Amino acid sequence: MVKKYLVFMVQVHLNFRLAELESLADLHGIKTVDFAQYDRDSPFFIVELENDEQAKKWISRSILTRAIYEYWGQGKDYPQLHASMQNDSEFQHRKQEHCNASFKFEFESFGGSSSGKLDRVACIESFQYLDFKGPIRMKNPQQIFTVIEEYEPLNDNEAGETPLRVFFGREVQRSDRFCGALEKYDLKKRPYKGTTSFEAELSLVSANIAQVKPGTIMYDPFAGTGSFLTAGGHYQAMVIGSDIDGRMIRGKGNQTIKANFKKYKDSLQFLDVLTMDFTHNALRSDLLIDTILCDPPYGIRESIKVLGAKDPERFAGKENVEIDGQKAYLMRDYIPTKKPYSLDALLDDLLHFAAARLPLNGRLAFWMPVANDEDIETIIPLHSNLELKYNCVQEFNKWSRRLLVYINRGPNFNGPANVGLGRSKEKFRDRYFNGFN
Ligand SMILES: C[S@@+](CC[C@H](N)C(=O)[O-])C[C@H]1O[C@@H](n2cnc3c(N)ncnc32)[C@H](O)[C@@H]1O
Repeated sequence: MVKKYLVFMVQVHLNFRLAELESLADLHGIKTVDFAQYDRDSPFFIVELENDEQAKKWISRSILTRAIYEYWGQGKDYPQLHASMQNDSEFQHRKQEHCNASFKFEFESFGGSSSGKLDRVACIESFQYLDFKGPIRMKNPQQIFTVIEEYEPLNDNEAGETPLRVFFGREVQRSDRFCGALEKYDLKKRPYKGTTSFEAELSLVSANIAQVKPGTIMYDPFAGTGSFLTAGGHYQAMVIGSDIDGRMIRGKGNQTIKANFKKYKDSLQFLDVLTMDFTHNALRSDLLIDTILCDPPYGIRESIKVLGAKDPERFAGKENVEIDGQKAYLMRDYIPTKKPYSLDALLDDLLHFAAARLPLNGRLAFWMPVANDEDIETIIPLHSNLELKYNCVQEFNKWSRRLLVYINRGPNFNGPANVGLGRSKEKFRDRYFNGFN
């Protein structure tokens, strides 16, 4: 038997919200949710689930949701809400189930605050027919019953006079967002961060859409200051990062990626980070990488470079230079030569690596920048083993970035491919610095 639940979401990052909910449902093997009923314009989504356990698992990790409630009813106004609750065939059963539990009432609203407009005591009294016998407990009650009012905002700061809709439900699970994940991982409070650090909210959302799983290995090949490693660690993956820039990997003094993990009490999740050019990857080929999550260099704050000589003819023979009888390139302070590389080629390498190293159904998720030119088609990199599952866009003024999420379907998948074709029409870096003119 299934039961009705009400998901109360946040109206932000709408291009990512459904992908997060779907990915978390899939991660927990939840099949009863009818995503055809999902409405992008509404913060509410009524779903069917087997039980509270399923609801808890599904929503506890969510960042773009506030909470999930057992659904008791809804109406355009309070009389309609009361009628809807009492006419529901499950009403008597629900009431009995929790009648002796300690409880409290809470009020939530969307589209403005009801404070001042609603007489809360009178409102609570109007639910007397619930006949709860348990004690009212404001701290740690066994059950929280929630009234959620939806208003049409008059403007950005003011709610409408009367609610458009009122819901009633029993709180089953607050989301990670509601439980303070955004404050905890706020970049402002992070010991080690830099100009390339990725904000907390979307890095956690990315980890959810990438289905980073507890106890599995997550790899960020362009780790920088470790924002995605931090997000992966939060969801209890064992994380490994690498970056061509040793300064990023080492940090300074107490400001290191490791120190961030210590602050978040996630040290056990931190496997290690290493200085390495992704295109000359040294990770053991039998190391099982379950998920790849990253933010490759766009060439804006840092140019795209790989190991190698820009002008191989001029460099010829220099690899044999010796100092005091020792090959220079084997010395600890040797700085290898680097050559420029294109974003296209780097993303091709990333897709090839994911196809070769992820398990079947493992996910690769990465961010890709795009100039918002009407006349330039955005070509998404595709590999024949990888199914492109999501392409979630975050818009800025003249450019956007996309979270591209792929599932490794293996060599028999035979999907469309465009690796090796040089997809970019124009260099994103040049366009960025020219103000997209
Ligand atoms: C957009 S930043 C990623 C930032 C990271 N998400 C963070 O939290 O700081 C891209 C990173 O890729 C690194 N990078 C550039 N070329 C690379 C290469 N060939 N191999 C590995 N890392 C590279 C840069 O040093 C930079 O730190």
